[in-house]
Amino acid sequence: MRHRAIGVYDSGFGGLSVWRELRRLLPSESLTYLGDGKNCPYGGRSREEITGFAEQAVERLLAEGVKMVVVGCNTATTAAIEHLRQRWPELPIVGLEPAVKPACLTTRTRKIAVLATEHSLRSDMFLRTASRYADDIEVIKVVGRDFVEIVEGGEEHTERAERAVREAVEPLLGQGVDKIVLGCTHYPFLRSTIERVVAGHDIEVIDSGAAVARRVKWLLERYNISAEEGATPEFKFLSFASEEYRQGLERKAAAIEEELCARC
Ligand code: DGL
Repeated sequence: MRHRAIGVYDSGFGGLSVWRELRRLLPSESLTYLGDGKNCPYGGRSREEITGFAEQAVERLLAEGVKMVVVGCNTATTAAIEHLRQRWPELPIVGLEPAVKPACLTTRTRKIAVLATEHSLRSDMFLRTASRYADDIEVIKVVGRDFVEIVEGGEEHTERAERAVREAVEPLLGQGVDKIVLGCTHYPFLRSTIERVVAGHDIEVIDSGAAVARRVKWLLERYNISAEEGATPEFKFLSFASEEYRQGLERKAAAIEEELCARC
């Protein structure tokens, strides 16, 4: 069991931002990544549709023999996590929630913004988390229009990305927001553009990737299924879209790996 891979799933490339944090914290763990691709973006779809895709994805990852599943997608988590846990009660499943809690605990202005997909922002789970921690805090909800498509197309460093980010984020400037929570796993790939747009406004940009990696570590230890320390990890990439798309996932993960190596 211990040598088996952790399965990571997203609608597309977004879960690779979670992958990056898993690689950073758990370098000996093998990872199998499934980026749907065929049905992406999930953001404007119904709960039923997304639940169906998520179920299919977990089935596929289980067929690969994974020991745990990380739903590296806020939208799929809000739509389907309860269903997945009911269907596979023995399987450790970790979901993604926007980092509303840390933002609420550290805001000085009592005003935060959450950038996420349409589906996540209208979901029960988001409303529940926001009301639990944001009682006297104003939460401004912003849909990152075109963000997912930009990341899927590898256009993070283009004019199109700059325009989309400005459109979503500029209206927040001057409103007293001091935290922007990235509530979609695709969005950290636009972090440098977002940070450039908010520069000088004393706004912190927060995402949940590192917290999720810590939760995964904790669960691996609790179930006693961590990989042996120093083990050489293996990586595998799957998709419901084309072979070309699958190779794109592999290339992006390789670029992340290089970036991590350059820092260590
Ligand atoms: N990466 C996703 C999320 O975290 C889904 C984006 C989409 O497919 O719309 O919400």
